[in-house]
Amino acid sequence: MPKLLVTGGKRPLQGTVKISGAKNAAVAIIPAAILTSAPVRLENLPEISDIHVLVEILQSLGVRASWPEPGVLLLDSSGLHSWQAPYRLVSRLRASYYLLGALAGRFGRAEVPAPGGCDLGPRPIDQHLKGLAALGAQIEVEHGLVKIAAKGLYGGDIYLDVVSVGATINLMLAAVRAQGKTVIENAAREPEIVDVANFLNAMGARIRGAGTDVIKITGVDELGGVAHSVIPDRVEAGTYMIAAAATAGDVLLLDVIPKHLDPVIAKLREMGVTVEVAGDSLRVSVRETPQAIDIKTFPYPGFPTDLQSLAMVLLTRAEGNSIITENVFESRFRHVDELKRMGARIKVEGRSAIIEGVCPLSGAPVRATDLRAGAAFIIAGLVADGKTLISDIDHIYRGYENICGKLRALGASLVEVE
Ligand code: EPZ
Repeated sequence: MPKLLVTGGKRPLQGTVKISGAKNAAVAIIPAAILTSAPVRLENLPEISDIHVLVEILQSLGVRASWPEPGVLLLDSSGLHSWQAPYRLVSRLRASYYLLGALAGRFGRAEVPAPGGCDLGPRPIDQHLKGLAALGAQIEVEHGLVKIAAKGLYGGDIYLDVVSVGATINLMLAAVRAQGKTVIENAAREPEIVDVANFLNAMGARIRGAGTDVIKITGVDELGGVAHSVIPDRVEAGTYMIAAAATAGDVLLLDVIPKHLDPVIAKLREMGVTVEVAGDSLRVSVRETPQAIDIKTFPYPGFPTDLQSLAMVLLTRAEGNSIITENVFESRFRHVDELKRMGARIKVEGRSAIIEGVCPLSGAPVRATDLRAGAAFIIAGLVADGKTLISDIDHIYRGYENICGKLRALGASLVEVE
């Protein structure tokens, strides 16, 4: 299994990085394409393993897929013949739950193995299933397989108990071709949800209110083909912003939507980091030691939970003690123990972690527990003294396109080793 060897203590990150398309929009839009049997062209897709697994799953169901050029995917679902997703592929992809909504929306039927958990704690899909039932689906969950059968799906009113990105998107996929009106209340407001809604509306769906906590959908009989370019990845962008701040560097990010990064920009500025916004680019630079701050993660437009582990590394470089409170996932502090092995002084109390700064880090062997923690360990390795060997880096490649190449271009010293 390859590992990543990061050499720290080098010069700050400097230069320009181009941000890729959003993983969390792409992994929903690709299954959504099966809601039409007309050709669909997707652009600005990131080159990451999650997307290739998803395309393989669709091909196993009879969808024709081709890549005319990097980042561009052509899908033709006219030959889609099965609603049973294969376990061996589905188990490799957390976001496979979107197949439930997409297959139910297309066939009124779906059989998808329940998604595996991961290192953020249990990843229930009870809200997805509650919503599908409200649209008339009969649901059976047995032997780890979620089976959906419905004569047809009918519009319904859904009030989500939890603000859930996955449930909000999944229910949009199921509702766009249901008969009648659907209202999703307490919906999540992430930009990726708006991107999926824009994609579906371009196919002829009638979705209103995406990006707010009430989404109204009027079902239509057919959806047509479309060409759609996926929005930039705000979590990838936040990763490079934090890497620039942590290494006291000066980095220009291209192809971003600054609005999507408002919570990250606000917190970096609160620390005293300079963030300059210009059109679809932004520049992060550090002139004096960042100051300690408190961060609370919340659904969008709150500070993103996906950047929590990265912010934790940054806060070891800040003057003073900081507190991070994780309000989205119940156990997303798995990375703390590894950071403590690198010398970080962090104390976890329930949902909060207290980070002492300024605390020098020293290189150590660590294991990536999820893709964002993996990226956090790379940044920790860049600021640590000595070398950091990161294992389980497949997690990182699931969601970050060419992260080694992009960081090397900014002056980072990292290499893949067996
Ligand atoms: C999406 O996961 C993202 N993944 C996650 O990013 C992200 O961390 C998360 O949203 C929160 O922003 C994708 O978009 C593929 P949720 P999702 O449903 O949809 C609870 C990454 O690094 N919940 O918004 O699975 C859940 O346990 C990944 O790219 C229920 O209780 O997250 C969590 O505590 C990691 N029941 C909270 O809601 C449900 O039915 C938010 O989860 C669904 C969720």
